[in-house]
Amino acid sequence: MAEARENAEAKEDEMRLTEAEIAVHWKEEEYYHPTPKFIGQANLTDPAVSERFSEKNFPECFREYADMLTWDKYWTTTLDTSNAPFWKWFVGGKLNVCYNCVDRNLGKYANKAAILWASEDENEPIVALTYQELYVQVNEMAAVLRDFCGLKTGDRVTVHMPMVPQLPVTMLACARLGIIHSVVFGGFSGEACGTRIEDSKSHILITMDGYYRSGKLLDHKAAADIAVKKAESEGHKVEKVLIWRRFRDKSATSTPLVEGRDYIVDDLLKKYRGVIVPPVSMPAEAPLFLMYTSGSTGKPKGCQHSTGGYLAYVTGTSKYIQDIHTTDIYWCMADIGWITGHSYIVYGPLALAATSVMYEGVPTFPDAGRVWRIAERLGVNIFHTSPTSIRMLRKLGPDEPKKYHYDFKSMTTVGEPIEPEAWLWYYHVVGRGKAAITDTWWQTENGGFLCSTKPAMDAMKPGSTGPPVPGIFPVVYDENGKELPPGAGKAGNICIRNPWPGLFQTIWGDPDRFVKQYYVKYNKDPKSKDWRDWPYFAGDGATWAKDGYVRILGRVDDVINVAGHRLGTKELESACLTVPEIAEAAVVPIVDPERGRVPEVYVALKPGIKASDEIAQRVTLAIETTIGKIARPRAVRIVPDMPKTRSGKIMRRVLASISNRMDYGDITTLSNPEVVEQIRVQVQGAGPVKTEKGPEDIRRFGETT
Ligand code: WTA
Repeated sequence: MAEARENAEAKEDEMRLTEAEIAVHWKEEEYYHPTPKFIGQANLTDPAVSERFSEKNFPECFREYADMLTWDKYWTTTLDTSNAPFWKWFVGGKLNVCYNCVDRNLGKYANKAAILWASEDENEPIVALTYQELYVQVNEMAAVLRDFCGLKTGDRVTVHMPMVPQLPVTMLACARLGIIHSVVFGGFSGEACGTRIEDSKSHILITMDGYYRSGKLLDHKAAADIAVKKAESEGHKVEKVLIWRRFRDKSATSTPLVEGRDYIVDDLLKKYRGVIVPPVSMPAEAPLFLMYTSGSTGKPKGCQHSTGGYLAYVTGTSKYIQDIHTTDIYWCMADIGWITGHSYIVYGPLALAATSVMYEGVPTFPDAGRVWRIAERLGVNIFHTSPTSIRMLRKLGPDEPKKYHYDFKSMTTVGEPIEPEAWLWYYHVVGRGKAAITDTWWQTENGGFLCSTKPAMDAMKPGSTGPPVPGIFPVVYDENGKELPPGAGKAGNICIRNPWPGLFQTIWGDPDRFVKQYYVKYNKDPKSKDWRDWPYFAGDGATWAKDGYVRILGRVDDVINVAGHRLGTKELESACLTVPEIAEAAVVPIVDPERGRVPEVYVALKPGIKASDEIAQRVTLAIETTIGKIARPRAVRIVPDMPKTRSGKIMRRVLASISNRMDYGDITTLSNPEVVEQIRVQVQGAGPVKTEKGPEDIRRFGETT
């Protein structure tokens, strides 16, 4: 019996190997080159950069980024590897992030816009916060946090806010005091927020009463009540809820305040008018913030980012890759509730004294020209968005960009692989064939970019992210740790061989999981203190072309990338299991022409329960309330049983193939292979099995975990 199981498992391993080693034959796209005008003004054009950031000069090369900051005390050790893989950067150094993003810009740029904000409601005027005004607001808010809330360095605060200027004000006020902020995406449900409050043990929740989304004023304060209740149900008490007001003269919520717990920030601020709070000088290694993201197992994990290393990395890459100058008007259309917004709306651009644009609402509201109107009106010259938004804007208004007189010098795409057709529309129509595009690949854990072209130095190749950015040394491994060098023509798992300053420090409260998830797979010696033995496992499949350009194929673990947002299969599945009739649940990604991937749910019912649409609807509702509407499944399929290995593991790969009408491959190692055909007929109808191979991430879904 044991032997049979071993044989079956050996066979599974063999299958994985061949899957991973299947040659990928991409059509090689042609190169596009930046214009001489763009090159003439770019920050990074010096070919010596490759020598300066060569492996020989690692880790000292990153001084170049750290030297862009103002330090209270210069560091003594650039990289300390003594507690591998918990790397420490710029050890001995001290600085304050808020000082670097606000105070130090006052000398030259006090009257320049730091933030330009557009309401979703086009009748509301644009809000411009100068660096001086930002300074005043941040100080007053810091006074509220310190003196009214009694918060101190190292405490955590959860922030659940929409895209309004008060959000960066709150973050910078935390940073001024060394308070660790945990910003939860405003679109997440109250319950999802509550779980993150509990995990970070925040006693203060900061929120806003309401905001506009697709023309509707949403009552956001209601989510705060749910969040507090959820945290309490997990044994954690929130002491105060601070509520910013969306409108000066009226409330945007009908949810009543809870006496002794809820406070209106706008009222509190009046007591601290003009108060100046000195920035706290923080060790480079102190945590700056937590950003929760989905991983392959269990609940979302709080990625802990550092003060000095993080700020140095986002500042350096904002300057060299985003090509931000103080004269630029830069618009990153991400939400600050995700890492892209932290690094490339708030911290990087402000540290460079740029003007950073924020937009409250939906890009296609009230019509598909909205984004281009904002760009025209504000004079945006650097534009940064995701493939999902590009696909959506193209679908709803393919010719809209032509109607507006904006002038982009460069553009970025981030968050998902972009197909060459969408890239070409972005280039020719949005960028008018002259804006340089950077396709930046990275993750919440990484702080900043890992792969991208250097916009004035490298040609662009549609659909490929580009070579590694300065100081990053990737490697692509197969499942057995064999290197697949550039030009190998095979897909493998992309890893980064070296640490870099933006890399997160640990998973909040769970250092074992940090090591297990990111390092164990390709670690060469668990006792080693040499960084060369600790490649960072990114969890993405990739091919590396002969020209050094990386093409990201998608996740190889059981994370689903929906419209550039990471959702963990396990989180979705546990939401399904809150419906009492459900015995088992499995969630898989299906390919969607706009959103990249969307989840589809398979559930098996408890014995004796009859399948019904009503049960399926309750499963969808359960997902929306525990996570949020972004996680809404395409379909809920009630099946007689799940396909399982002999060791009882649900084969999500098989379900993913069925949902996507792809060949489901070898199923002889399953304990119940007969159920596969039943499910296939249920989902696809009778008829021949498709033999399409399909995308790599679907074929390998859930295999590496
Ligand atoms: C995917 C977002 C292809 C990838 C910054 C990664 C990309 C996950 C790209 C991280 C890109 C991100 N091309 N895929 N340019 N950028 N991804 O943590 O699968 O929200 O692992 O960070 O998005 O998503 P996260």
